[in-house]
Amino acid sequence: MNKNFNEVVFSGVQPTGNLHLGNYLGAIKNFVELQKKMNCIYCVVDLHAITVFQDPNQLKNNSLETLATFIACGLDFKKSIIFNQSSVSGHAELAWIFNCVSRLGWMNRMTQFKEKAGSNKENASVGLYVYPNLMAADILLYKATHVPVGDDQKQHLELSRDIAQKFNHDFKCKNFFPVPEPLIQKNFSRVMSLRDGKKKMSKSEDSDYSRINLTDTEDEIIKKIKKAKTDSLPIPEKIQDLKNRPEALNLLNIYSSITNLKVEKTLEEMVGKDFSKFKKQLSDVLVSVVCPIGRKIKDLKSNRSHLVNILNEGSNKAKKISNENLKKIKEIVGFIN
Ligand code: TYM
Repeated sequence: MNKNFNEVVFSGVQPTGNLHLGNYLGAIKNFVELQKKMNCIYCVVDLHAITVFQDPNQLKNNSLETLATFIACGLDFKKSIIFNQSSVSGHAELAWIFNCVSRLGWMNRMTQFKEKAGSNKENASVGLYVYPNLMAADILLYKATHVPVGDDQKQHLELSRDIAQKFNHDFKCKNFFPVPEPLIQKNFSRVMSLRDGKKKMSKSEDSDYSRINLTDTEDEIIKKIKKAKTDSLPIPEKIQDLKNRPEALNLLNIYSSITNLKVEKTLEEMVGKDFSKFKKQLSDVLVSVVCPIGRKIKDLKSNRSHLVNILNEGSNKAKKISNENLKKIKEIVGFIN
């Protein structure tokens, strides 16, 4: 398939450990599909990770594990540019410029900051507050046109669009930055916790039973699905009947997403079954998709120098694009370079 060279995809994943089914179904699975059609740049966003304190050794380990996960899920470092954010200084430079374009009022609306900072806002890092400006810099440094993300990143993406438009307007450089399009899965954009169908599946949730990690063993997956919260009603015929059954809907969505079926089709297949039977089928499909990924991650992690080489190769390619774009950006802003 010929790639469309006017379209550039950028996305990132934080190396904060415990990559899970939400990261896979909401984002990484889509990254793999996109690399067949467009020029793709995928980043291990370590600068984002340190907005919350990270143990330095753990951060290195998690960065390599995130890269290993990308590759184990099917990303090809010969087809896509894959690198770690801190190795390309343009991200931090453009983020500073965007700190001066973005407005305090815009920042104050960001719900993820409120969630992450919790009740003790005064004690959150300044980096956590301006994190969405860095995210805009990641995307626009490469003039990316499309950004595959899960639904939880939608508001940050809207901010990136606002920043692109304000920069183009303030500096009178119409269309210099493209206004990036979010690519969010239509049917199932938010994988929910296995313990509470109203909360998203997350790395930071205390209970490991709330998520399927991509490195979980067969036994762990079976146990977690067995323990996943459901209700006593059988599987209904219509999706509308799942409106007040968030846990049931989540498990059916996970099954559909993993097997590439529409949820309506899954309901057609499963109608009338009780959840104990369905859970057995769900664990089977999860084991068949997740366990090979986990084994590959383990295998790749045993060859550290191979992983470091992949990052270096990706950084060199990313730097070329970044340097060229940053030169133009600095000229537009009025810096002498
Ligand atoms: P992060 O590291 O939290 O998550 C990586 C990707 O996984 C998606 N995701 C989910 N999707 C569906 N259901 C879930 N439960 C779920 N949990 C996570 C996220 O939406 C994301 O797509 N700020 C970003 C990283 C980032 C970025 C960027 C993304 C930095 N710069 C530029 C796109 C473009 C983040 O923290 O993702």
